[in-house]
Amino acid sequence: MGTVPTGVRGLDALTDGGFPRGSTVIVEGAPGTGKTTLGMQFLHHGAVSDGEAGIYITFEEFPDQLYRDMLAFGWDLRKLEAGNLLRVVAMSPDVFLEQMTEPGGLLEKMIRELDCKRMVIDSISLFRYGAADQEEHRRTLYRLRNILRKFELTSLLIKERGTSTDVSGFEAYISDGFIALQLKQQMEKYRVRTLEILKMRGKRIQEGEHVYRITDAGIHLIPSRSMVEDRSLLKGQTKVPTGIAELDRLLGGGLAKGTVTLLDTNSKANYKYMISTVLANRYEAGDHILALLSSFNTPQDLKRMFAMQGLSLGQIAREDRIYFIEHYNRRYPEGCEANVIDVSGADSREYRHILRERFGPVVEQGLERGDSWFIYYDLNTVISERGKDHVMKFFAEETASIKSLGMTMMVMCNFSEIGPECSAYLERTCNGVIRTWVDGNYQYLQVTKSPNGVISEPYIVETTDESPFIRLM
Ligand SMILES: Nc1ncnc2c1ncn2[C@@H]1O[C@H](COP(=O)(O)OP(=O)(O)OP(=O)(O)O)[C@@H](O)[C@H]1O
Ligand SMILES: [Mg+2]
Repeated sequence: MGTVPTGVRGLDALTDGGFPRGSTVIVEGAPGTGKTTLGMQFLHHGAVSDGEAGIYITFEEFPDQLYRDMLAFGWDLRKLEAGNLLRVVAMSPDVFLEQMTEPGGLLEKMIRELDCKRMVIDSISLFRYGAADQEEHRRTLYRLRNILRKFELTSLLIKERGTSTDVSGFEAYISDGFIALQLKQQMEKYRVRTLEILKMRGKRIQEGEHVYRITDAGIHLIPSRSMVEDRSLLKGQTKVPTGIAELDRLLGGGLAKGTVTLLDTNSKANYKYMISTVLANRYEAGDHILALLSSFNTPQDLKRMFAMQGLSLGQIAREDRIYFIEHYNRRYPEGCEANVIDVSGADSREYRHILRERFGPVVEQGLERGDSWFIYYDLNTVISERGKDHVMKFFAEETASIKSLGMTMMVMCNFSEIGPECSAYLERTCNGVIRTWVDGNYQYLQVTKSPNGVISEPYIVETTDESPFIRLM
């Protein structure tokens, strides 16, 4: 079918290149939101960049005014008209419909003459006034849509927002795309223009409201979250898959090796599955694991979760493939005891000392063999046992040495519990941040920071009966 670029770069990025060719897209917005500007940008871009002729139908404005307004964006409409790449037609809605439906009528002639590909109608709201009732209005729109299709025009139908003449949902129903422009009050102080794509047939769209500005070059849209798939993979960087398919896709293959990723989660969120899934996957991928489990996530829990994935925690420990940092003096499953680094009761200095003494040699032996390490670190435990000061003082140093050894680390933390200052510090220190939270009956997950600058949209976390037990929707 092909895609028709709109000339609004951010909008094209959100719609995977532009509108589907031949589609009818409604742009709805209150007065002054930039509908006319968007429509003209679409036609101007088509004419100048793609050599596609367009027709602009206006029921309200005098062309002279329009020419002047658009010249402010550097769009010389008269020149395009002279080159047969544009027609601006001012007429009444009644005449338009009459001419449009009449075979060989004025519009059909014009479309054929120009070999017109794009059309903007400003605005379809006015048809309502000529219609006897809603039923007739619907018929009119339906007829219009069919005519636009017949001529294979990619068209943008402008619609006023918030008039009492709304035919609720019908336009959205018959159109291929629906875009809403809004001027929103934000934080009481300033207003922000937002664009939302509510529908775009045959396209993967990015949900949410995206901010745009009207600049000297027309509409400039900034997608609220960068497109993830398109920019995947930092070249040459080794990825450490988590085993959660959608998360790995979001991350361009997985966590980047030798980086620290923070997982921010509130205690209600069901994260145990996630952790055990990631750890089990890292084991199966050949990693050595160091785990610091929280007071909620007991060694027995982990054993059970591993068993659900067909793995024996004791066996893995006997292979020296997993070690534990233990703060609560808990009993570990059979086979694990020798690999537990007990730090319960140790103060900050002793803690660092014990880790160096016990873990240092393990790492060094493995370095020669080229072992790869995955560290799971529950920072809430460290904070509650050693205090925020310990973290603020040592975390950057600890993570720096972990990174320098090429180890990959996932840090669990609850931002809402540790306060803004410490959260901000951690967010800066870590290479990536994944947030999960519970809202109502759903758990959500979003990548809010990643080494290659990619940010995802929020996903719903769904628990499933089979490994890997969680799925992102
Ligand atoms: N060069 C410019 N820079 C910044 N803003 C501009 C510029 N030119 C126009 N605007 C703003 O663009 C808005 C008008 O855009 P436009 O006429 O496309 O809106 P509209 O949705 O068609 O409005 P209406 O419903 O009244 O027809 C105004 O708010 C105006 O202030
Ligand atoms: Mg307008």
